[in-house]
Amino acid sequence: MTKSAGGANEKGNNRHWLGYRAGGLHVEDVPLSAVATAVPTPFYCYSANAIRSAYKSLASALGPSDISICFAVKANSNIAVLGLLSELGCGMDIVSGGELERALAANVPASRIIFSGVGKTRAEIARALEVGIHQINVESAAEISAVAGVARALGKRAPVALRVNPDVDAKTHAKITTATKESKFGIPIGEVADLYAEAKAMPELEVVGLAVHIGSQIQDMSPFRRAFSTMADLVTFMRERGLGVPRLDLGGGIGIASEDDAGPDIAEYAMIIAETVSHLGCEISVEPGRWLVGRAGLLVTELLYLKGMQDGCTAILDVGMNDLMRPALYDARHPVLALHEPRTDQAAPSYTLVGPICESSDKFGAYDGLGELREGDLLAFDCAGAYGASMASTYNSRDLVAEVLVEGGRFRTIRSRQDIRAMLRLEQAGTWQLPALKEREASGIVQRAARPGRR
Ligand code: LLP
Repeated sequence: MTKSAGGANEKGNNRHWLGYRAGGLHVEDVPLSAVATAVPTPFYCYSANAIRSAYKSLASALGPSDISICFAVKANSNIAVLGLLSELGCGMDIVSGGELERALAANVPASRIIFSGVGKTRAEIARALEVGIHQINVESAAEISAVAGVARALGKRAPVALRVNPDVDAKTHAKITTATKESKFGIPIGEVADLYAEAKAMPELEVVGLAVHIGSQIQDMSPFRRAFSTMADLVTFMRERGLGVPRLDLGGGIGIASEDDAGPDIAEYAMIIAETVSHLGCEISVEPGRWLVGRAGLLVTELLYLKGMQDGCTAILDVGMNDLMRPALYDARHPVLALHEPRTDQAAPSYTLVGPICESSDKFGAYDGLGELREGDLLAFDCAGAYGASMASTYNSRDLVAEVLVEGGRFRTIRSRQDIRAMLRLEQAGTWQLPALKEREASGIVQRAARPGRR
């Protein structure tokens, strides 16, 4: 019998795939400790079936209204994850040429890819047009001219939608709020109709509609209602002026539960879409990232050292802010689970979890309920499937973190660690430095530094 390890009662995002069996934390039918024996920590671990079930519950909530779902690749850009979603019929929302190549590598048809983002280069636009992208969301008059120019040079017509800034506060963290007046994103709503008409007059552009994205990790659904109603009013206003709006892209942003909080209700989100924009008869798409993958992933780490501090016990982990940036960047708190089920009959201290990076912000917060910890114990940060691995870096010259996918009783490394050898292959001294480099080579220093080491 599996005992659920984390908030199983949230609406539409059931976590039957995660729990303790025989005292060990399992992802689907795989004990995480078995993965940790095969793959050195830290690593991200995703459940394929959790991702599938999140997609299916969102698709069924949006159901009869025939809305297309385009996964925001930035949330988790591993091609195994993209492929899994694509097989279910999911499209992709990308924001760079790199994400485009990832989506194509995962066999996502270009006809199901939307290109968002405020600063696309001309080379990225050209590649998108060459592969036959479904839609490019443009965010300024200057970008409209750039897309038209690239399309002209290629002898193509570019399908563009205008991203609107509706001036709606998403009531989320300031760093992931994207639709207030001060934000760099979108075209101010008052300028949209005129710009739309200008774009429609350009023969290289096929102006297909409007887009909006108000922010991320949104818990209170009322900003969505405000934004989508504003968009509906804009579509009506534009149609009255003879400007057809066949497509409406509503962006992403649905938040996920954190710790014991049940999190947003996707039935309510679907209802808001139905009530605000479905009567317009537009082709509607949404671009969720976090909601599809956030709760389907864990970040597994080993406890390196315990350190007594004035205010309690600090546990130094082998995972750092370079592997999971969200706590340092947004003060985000991820639930933590011990891989060995903690005894509940003993009082255990609270631990402050920190990483090895040389920055005071390399800190994950204070946790209790983990039992009595010892050096060598394995822990897992939960709800780490979105914006975890995709935001990881090699800061402090640490390996780029690995990723593992579990399905049923199987698991596979879907991204190997990018180690120091791989990094050093891309670096070289200035030619003018070479004599000094040779000397160092002769003394063995360069070679010693290049040897890979396990952290
Ligand atoms: N569409 C556009 C145009 C976006 O900019 C984003 C996210 C999404 C869709 C997907 O949003 P989601 O459904 O995942 O909330 N690094 C931050 C999140 C940044 C989100 C940026 N844009 C974090 O870790 O919380």
